[in-house]
Amino acid sequence: MDLTKFRRVHLAQLPTPLESLKALSRELGGPDIYVKRDDCTGLAGGGNKTRKLEFLVAEAMEQGADTLVTVGATQSNHVRQSIAAAAKAGLRIEVLLEERMRRDNDYAENGNVMLDHLMGGVVHHCGPVADLNIAGEELADKVHAAGRKIYFFPAGGSSPVGTLGYIDCAAEILAQADDMNVEIDHIVVACGSQGTQAGLLVGLADANAAVPVLGISVGRSQAELERKVLSLAQDTVAYTGLTATINPDSVVCDDSFFGEAYGQPTDAMIEAVTLCARLEGLLLDPVYTGKAMSGLIAKIRAGVYKKGQSIVFLHTGGQAALHAYRTTFGGQ
Ligand SMILES: Cc1ncc(COP(=O)(O)O)c(C=O)c1O
Repeated sequence: MDLTKFRRVHLAQLPTPLESLKALSRELGGPDIYVKRDDCTGLAGGGNKTRKLEFLVAEAMEQGADTLVTVGATQSNHVRQSIAAAAKAGLRIEVLLEERMRRDNDYAENGNVMLDHLMGGVVHHCGPVADLNIAGEELADKVHAAGRKIYFFPAGGSSPVGTLGYIDCAAEILAQADDMNVEIDHIVVACGSQGTQAGLLVGLADANAAVPVLGISVGRSQAELERKVLSLAQDTVAYTGLTATINPDSVVCDDSFFGEAYGQPTDAMIEAVTLCARLEGLLLDPVYTGKAMSGLIAKIRAGVYKKGQSIVFLHTGGQAALHAYRTTFGGQ
């Protein structure tokens, strides 16, 4: 769809590349695997949030905000990219980081957290909460009461405004695959706050492209996640005024790969991250893309995705978190 009617600031290097993962495909002996490199969006380490922030920051500026407020888990990639976007736009930003689990000093202070401070975000902390977005709105109220003009956006930037970024990405993937003469059989992506998967589904429906998308859950049950993805996709359609309808059957998530809980390493994630690093020089992350890739690998080994097919793995970024999980990957 034509997104030019929506305000947008320039933050991302687009289009990101669509690359063939030849060595990984050979190693697994199944389909041809391609990677859409949204880890290369270019803003302070890149990642999927940059596309969403182009629309969110534009709306904040249009509303005359001087301060952004948002939320995430301790090692949030969304928060890191939001702080970078605020820096670039000349806005103040206050963030709330939820300590969903306690690990070690690397987890608490390195990786994304170190970068949050480096880029000048005002960082607040809280323990586990029932609803992080509500806790974030409470922080926004306090910042507002202190005299700031605030713009609050939820975890992962997954409002209909932020989700616009992935409508655009769907069109980009289709155009690149077309140029490469690749017929995509499936897109596989990590799913957390749902905006990435929801935006892709809207973009594909708008383009009349019958390409299935599988969202690999990073912590929620399949039923809850599918309900939330569908609802966000429908809200986004309504926001854009598109006529496309989202078929509930097109919303498919899998909750078999996140292990014990959000952010907790799994052996399959460690294998997936290590395999991509050693065969492709491709850095995944421990919380999202590593688990999503472990799902893709498992499905190839189980024969769900087969030789002769083409699978696009959407790399949503997150490598900064590797430094927060040093000991998981053999660091002393
Ligand atoms: C690296 C990475 N991949 C995937 C996701 C999930 O994207 P979404 O929140 O849009 O579902 C996130 C979001 O937090 C992320 O940081």
